Amino acid sequence: MHSIRSTLAAVVGLGPLLVAAQLSGSVGPLTSISAKNSTKNCNVLDYGAVADNSTDLGTPLTDAFDDCKDGGVVYIPPGSYAMSTWVDLSGGNAWALQMDGIIYRTGTDGGNMIYIEHSTDFELFSSTSAGAMQGFGYEFHIDDNWDGPRLLRLYDVSDFSVHDIALTDSPSFHFSMDTCTNGEIYNMAIRGADAGGTDGIDVWSNNIWIHDIEVTNKDECVTVKSPSKNILVEDIYCNWSGGCAMGSLGSDTNVSDIVYRNIYTWSSNQMYMIKSNGGNGTVENVVLENFIGHGNAYSLYIDSYWSSMAVVAGDGVTLNNITFTGWTGTEADGAERGPIDVTCSDTNPCTDITIEDFAMWTESGDYQWYKCESGYGTGACLESGDDYVSYTTTSTVTAAPSGYSAATMASDLTAAFGTTNYIPIPTIPTSFFPGATPISPLCRGEGSC
Ligand SMILES: *[C@@H]1O[C@H](CO)[C@@H](O)[C@H](O)[C@H]1NC(C)=O
Ligand SMILES: *[C@@H]1O[C@H](CO)[C@@H](O)[C@H](O)[C@H]1NC(C)=O
Ligand SMILES: *[C@@H]1O[C@H](CO)[C@@H](O)[C@H](O)[C@H]1NC(C)=O
Ligand SMILES: *[C@@H]1O[C@H](CO)[C@@H](O)[C@H](O)[C@H]1NC(C)=O
Ligand SMILES: *[C@@H]1O[C@H](CO)[C@@H](O)[C@H](O)[C@H]1NC(C)=O
Ligand SMILES: *[C@@H]1O[C@H](CO)[C@@H](O)[C@H](O)[C@H]1NC(C)=O
Repeated sequence: MHSIRSTLAAVVGLGPLLVAAQLSGSVGPLTSISAKNSTKNCNVLDYGAVADNSTDLGTPLTDAFDDCKDGGVVYIPPGSYAMSTWVDLSGGNAWALQMDGIIYRTGTDGGNMIYIEHSTDFELFSSTSAGAMQGFGYEFHIDDNWDGPRLLRLYDVSDFSVHDIALTDSPSFHFSMDTCTNGEIYNMAIRGADAGGTDGIDVWSNNIWIHDIEVTNKDECVTVKSPSKNILVEDIYCNWSGGCAMGSLGSDTNVSDIVYRNIYTWSSNQMYMIKSNGGNGTVENVVLENFIGHGNAYSLYIDSYWSSMAVVAGDGVTLNNITFTGWTGTEADGAERGPIDVTCSDTNPCTDITIEDFAMWTESGDYQWYKCESGYGTGACLESGDDYVSYTTTSTVTAAPSGYSAATMASDLTAAFGTTNYIPIPTIPTSFFPGATPISPLCRGEGSC
């Protein structure tokens, strides 16, 4: 069963202690795809779908779901399908959506093209790793319209996986996971417009493993929002993106036990940002480990006065026990934006912050700065002790730290896709971090998965 394979992969490949501490239990569907398929197979072509790239897939998909949601596989065979009406697939158990075809958006409503809610034991995948959604977001963006639909949203889904599909050019966010539990998201490529509002993966959920994902856009790569607990994110390729982040965080923030590791970030806004502006509640027990960056604006970045969000009532979100370790590479311009910018709340300083094994250097000029404001802990310009008074320190670094040099990915994007042109569907890559292969093989490699 998939969940067992995932657990084994975690134990064998990743170090049992951290994974055990990280995820609170196994993730993924409870029933294998072959068992679901032998229970029932609902092929959308039998429900009125036509792979002619013009007949609406919406109603046939809903009808197939209604027949297979209590145990079965909803099957979209290879081919081109137009989607002019959106689907809300609510209440399934022990089912799967096998998306081997390509879905082209033709409708113009807002909302979510595919919304899956109140589901248990669920799998969304392509058996060929070639299934995809093409959102044609540029048709909205060319008119400066950012209110088009999101491609995929999961709400209140448990024991599930999403894998081996490509999400392309969403008019809005690509993939959100809200209040889900025990999920595994892997082997995906997400490619959107070079603009804000095109988030890759946003997750606020419990016990989720996200790995082997490539994101191209100019907003969130893989971002954790509140509330979240036990989230493991690894082997991520932000191939020209906004970068990974946490937030934005506001009132009653509740985020804990989060690990990101093996995160490669190229030509993005930041390598990792924790963003808030006022607010309250807590973020704690976070590890951000083995990050490689090249060509990014910010690198390690906490901003508790993030000016892109409105001020929220409160003394500031409590940021406690956050470790940054094993960061290498280069930033675009360390004199303009230094590779360490820890701006904590002056009214509620960060505590137990650790910055260790950190070696980054600037790609232009001959110096960089580190800035710390009201952050307590060890490393860089952080203050120690437990006075927790506000302060600001900026230190100038005039020599490259030893060991900063880091690998690049062979196929880093050399130009953005812009916002007004057609964006081609990406092929899911076979590596998401220098030297690493996917933790679970792609479906297309094995012929089945
Ligand atoms: C699923 O079942 C259908 C018959 O209902 C069969 O045609 C198809 O090959 C099966 N798919 C897989 C992946 O086993
Ligand atoms: C499907 O239709 C869209 C227009 O809605 C077009 O851009 C796309 O190329 C078509 N795909 C195929 C495979 O014909
Ligand atoms: C934070 O979330 C956890 C579940 O993830 C819950 O048990 C806890 O009560 C929440 N804390 C607050 C202060 O809401
Ligand atoms: C956070 O602030 C909101 C609004 O001011 C308040 O209702 C809530 O009780 C506060 N929560 C905590 C944990 O202090
Ligand atoms: C700090 O966070 C780490 C990683 O989640 C955890 O192992 C450790 O127990 C936490 N420390 C404290 C004092 O809670
Ligand atoms: C990175 O993005 C560029 C443009 O989308 C693409 O050509 C390249 O193949 C991507 N890299 C990988 C590993 O997919």
